[in-house]
Amino acid sequence: MIAPAETLRLLDGPRPADGPESLQSHLARLGPRPSHSGGAFIDVVDRAGLRGRGGAGFPTATKWAATRDRSRGNAIVVANGAETEPMSAKDRALMTTRPHLVLDGLLLAAEAVAAKRAVVYISRAHDDAAAAVTAAIDERRAARDLPVPVTLARAPHRYVAGEESAAIAHLNGGAARPTMVPPRPFERGVDGRPTVVNNVETLAHAALIARHGPEVYQRLGADGATGTVLVTMASAVHSAGVHELPGGSTVAEAISAAGGATASVAAVLVGGYFGRWVAAEDAWDLRLGIDVPLGAGVIAVFPHGRCGVTQTAALMGFLARESARQCGPCEHGLAALAGTTAELAAGRAKPRDAERLNRWIEQIAGRGACHHPDGALALLASGLRVFAGDVSTHLRRGRCDRDPSPLLPAPDWTGRRG
Ligand SMILES: Cc1cc2nc3c(=O)[nH]c(=O)nc-3n(C[C@H](O)[C@H](O)[C@H](O)COP(=O)(O)O)c2cc1C
Ligand code: SF4
Repeated sequence: MIAPAETLRLLDGPRPADGPESLQSHLARLGPRPSHSGGAFIDVVDRAGLRGRGGAGFPTATKWAATRDRSRGNAIVVANGAETEPMSAKDRALMTTRPHLVLDGLLLAAEAVAAKRAVVYISRAHDDAAAAVTAAIDERRAARDLPVPVTLARAPHRYVAGEESAAIAHLNGGAARPTMVPPRPFERGVDGRPTVVNNVETLAHAALIARHGPEVYQRLGADGATGTVLVTMASAVHSAGVHELPGGSTVAEAISAAGGATASVAAVLVGGYFGRWVAAEDAWDLRLGIDVPLGAGVIAVFPHGRCGVTQTAALMGFLARESARQCGPCEHGLAALAGTTAELAAGRAKPRDAERLNRWIEQIAGRGACHHPDGALALLASGLRVFAGDVSTHLRRGRCDRDPSPLLPAPDWTGRRG
């Protein structure tokens, strides 16, 4: 299959400044969405090696096959466009520029799992994305290209609201908080039906795989990290924002695509607030999605002049505030870790507090009902390791000489409703 080069990647075609791509332009560029009977597209997606872009990197075909097995024609598919990670902008970039690619992927998923309806789930903070998707759904309705009903649901803008069981709980009329699993979504999800939740970027990739085939898609990436990836490049780079890279690109290539670093780099936060700190010298050659998980697709470049201890403490404060307060390890554990890390940053901690942090990390690991605490623990453990020099300076002298003001945002959303 030979495809024009300008149709292979998610953001190929009209530029983001042109606004949402219309259905007419989308069809002129990519042609109609191919149809596959009896779940045959699941095999195509499997051969393409598509993995989820929502955080866990789970194989998409495995998830779809498990849902199809239980579907009996009334499964539900959910496009997860909550994007509640504070530094991430990739899902909004996609929904506001290529809404029809997301809808194509959603409709292909619906066909593959024999779904009876589909939902796009978007944070209440992301009105531009919601407007673009609503207009795109209306265009499809007018063009009679909605084989199943597609609706839009708005999520509270809280960190855990994007977790898949929280999304399902919200779509079932409850609070957007993670529920204890099992049952897994493919067993019992929205309306008690088998449910697939996929990140909007994952679905958009499926729409390209349907057009170009698995081999072309594989060749866009490398070494099992097939296709392209959307990354949000943040903090000390010249061109912060969303960039599309070949799968398996290195951290150095990602930084170069963002115009290079603006200052001497101390560390890189790979994956976002779910991710981990990596010392600069260890980071350059790491291949995204191969040597290091891509998480929410955020890469934040942290310069030498800033204090990594204070920054990590600020992020821990955010993650503790964003606990859904349903499990002890998460509510009390994250609060204790955040409190002690803040004491360390303020220069009031003793060596035994640092030892206690490491002990708590081990004790809390794997004990939350969802992955929220584990994400926070990975961030803290990596921060203590990468900024070990600054940690010991804080323990010895109270503070280090670096600028303590946090560079990466750690918003306080506790006053928000929902
Ligand atoms: C605390 C938490 C927050 C999450 N937030 C999001 C989110 O905003 N968007 C998203 O797509 N996935 C989010 N996820 C991951 C989802 O639970 C789920 O794995 C994902 O939507 C599945 O899609 P994928 O298979 O296409 O990656 C979050 C997970 C956790 C633990
Ligand atoms: S681990 Fe935290 S966020 Fe997850 S369900 Fe428990 S309280 Fe909620």
